[in-house]
Amino acid sequence: MQNKISNSIIKGDTLEELKQFPNNFIDMGVTSPPYNKGEKNNGWLVKNVLYDKICDKKDETIYQDDQIKVLDELYRITKDGGSFFYNHKIRWNKGKLIHPIEWLKKTKWCIRQEIIWDRAIAGNIRGWRFWQVEERIYWLYKAIDNNFIGEELKSKHSLLTSIWRFSPEKNSLHPAPFPLQLPIRCIYSVMDDKKNGIIIDPYCGSGTTLVASKMFGYSYIGIDISQNYIDIAKNRIENYKNEIKIFDEEKNKHIVKKTFKERKEKGIYNHHDKNRRQELKNNNKINNNENFLF
Ligand SMILES: C[S@@+](CC[C@H](N)C(=O)[O-])C[C@H]1O[C@@H](n2cnc3c(N)ncnc32)[C@H](O)[C@@H]1O
Repeated sequence: MQNKISNSIIKGDTLEELKQFPNNFIDMGVTSPPYNKGEKNNGWLVKNVLYDKICDKKDETIYQDDQIKVLDELYRITKDGGSFFYNHKIRWNKGKLIHPIEWLKKTKWCIRQEIIWDRAIAGNIRGWRFWQVEERIYWLYKAIDNNFIGEELKSKHSLLTSIWRFSPEKNSLHPAPFPLQLPIRCIYSVMDDKKNGIIIDPYCGSGTTLVASKMFGYSYIGIDISQNYIDIAKNRIENYKNEIKIFDEEKNKHIVKKTFKERKEKGIYNHHDKNRRQELKNNNKINNNENFLF
């Protein structure tokens, strides 16, 4: 079964397809599900994001129950110690805030981190609240033997902060893709230099996660309900080298300027410690341009 579905994109309903997968065989996943934005009477922005095959409007309770079922299936098929990155956003319904944590807390996953994705978009000139420029990315973790802390990130990844700043994808045939940097960052941070792995995107759309997996040399599995989007994804995967510049740029952000050993040797522990910094400068242990952010 595993060999059959590796490096494939399955056309179908996410939950129904996931139910047919075996247990514990996926290393990690990244996705952005439909957000249940509503599609009528909701302003110009929502009208611009219309999917090919589905209407993004469900009763909110049904929507959340469905997402819990999908996330629990993903938990079942993921190996112990595996991760899943779930991109979503805060929404409002008739003035009341709906936070993704509401349903994520009801899944089997351990919520390891909430990352803010600052989409770096321009402000608006009117609105009922401050212009929402951010989305969220939840790093979900499947613990090994109830150890919810898990493995430490390598320094080169952990130096990136919990706020990720990159613009939304603009050049796409899909109405709501995420930028390629997003899955590249997730995959590189948890897989690091692992030789093999299987990565899933259960709502793969234009295949952004699958393209990122291909760039690292990992196997991928995608699911989407729209043949049109699957065709776009297949074409992107085939031509992944056209987007390789983004891969190189993102990987270059995961660099440690000094190792812990080097810092220890110089006695540099904390970049906020101004007195210590001055003392080191006075003793010519560091120069003026020394970067204290590791
Ligand atoms: C936010 S988009 C994902 C975009 C993707 N991250 C990308 O970069 O192109 C959500 C996708 O979920 C698909 N979708 C929605 N409901 C689905 C369902 N029940 N089963 C399978 N796919 C579904 C839509 O066709 C859409 O492509």
